[in-house]
Amino acid sequence: MCENLFITFQEQTARHFKTEELILAESNYPEIEEHRIYHKKLLLMARETSEKCQNMIDKVNLLKCFDELIQFFIDDVVSGDLAYKYHLQNTGFASR
Ligand SMILES: [Fe+2]
Ligand SMILES: [Fe+2]
Repeated sequence: MCENLFITFQEQTARHFKTEELILAESNYPEIEEHRIYHKKLLLMARETSEKCQNMIDKVNLLKCFDELIQFFIDDVVSGDLAYKYHLQNTGFASR
């Protein structure tokens, strides 16, 4: 069951990144390539953590693993996405 949760989480995150990159491309965000690389790095880290967590039967450590996975997504929102917030606001893209 947890393995499925990890997989679903990674799929949802990948979908979020893809949608975000489409918006950044459409709004001509000048640092889109750096942000794409950042997303790829987060997905790779999430996959590595997920693989590490597979076959884990200890419930406490499994929860810790899931927290780590969630942290990758929070890092995108808190650290990465703040960088283009003003670009979308200044170009009027945020209010579309
Ligand atoms: Fe994001
Ligand atoms: Fe992002």
